[in-house]
Amino acid sequence: MTSPKSGKIAPSILSADFAHLADEIARVTEAGADMIHVDVMDGHFVPNFTIGPPIVKAIRKVTRLPLDVHLMMTNPEDFISEFIKAGSSYITVHVETCPHLHRTIQSIKEEGVKAGVTLNPATPLSSVEEILGEVDLLLIMSVNPGFGGQSFIPSALEKLRRARKMIDARGAKVELEIDGGVKIENIAAMAQAGADIFVSGSAIFQSKDYKDTIQRMRSAIG
Ligand code: DX5
Ligand code: ZN
Repeated sequence: MTSPKSGKIAPSILSADFAHLADEIARVTEAGADMIHVDVMDGHFVPNFTIGPPIVKAIRKVTRLPLDVHLMMTNPEDFISEFIKAGSSYITVHVETCPHLHRTIQSIKEEGVKAGVTLNPATPLSSVEEILGEVDLLLIMSVNPGFGGQSFIPSALEKLRRARKMIDARGAKVELEIDGGVKIENIAAMAQAGADIFVSGSAIFQSKDYKDTIQRMRSAIG
């Protein structure tokens, strides 16, 4: 038996118009988004550079939605307190960047912020097995992190199914999130595989009508 799905849609602002970020966030909020996904990239762990704590702080002032901050950076522990002060609701770190993952997760939770862990497409699910009981969120990457607009890697679906089983078998209270290449056409399969939170950047922000897109996604996930 699988646990009930919360079915949250999390638009990734990576594909938003950065010159009008507050308007873009207002539009997806109005369109029914459940949380705002914020992609932090450092130019080291991933070959792209995006935003830091000052932007998270600015965004915090313009939305009531939870901020789902995805840290694609080396040494994330050096910046966790800055991202927490800036108003993050969730902070997700990559298992590939955290040799002391247990400590890193504890330091997020101690500040009252939800702690997530994620893994690249080539990283086995077994790498998060021992930390599952400690995290609030498990994010399965369905693209190699660094850019919006990439195609969904099909093997992520099977990984999602195994992650769902692993969570349910332990009775762990962990939200299961999927990120990368999520669109109206393929989101139902991810819901069936057990995802709770669906991150989507280009499919939402490159559509004409955000509300229509989010509603179609929601009806596809049931
Ligand atoms: C990829 C990021 C994603 C990205 C998703 O490195 O973590 O959150 O914004 O973008 P789409 O939905 O366009 O694949
Ligand atoms: Zn992301």
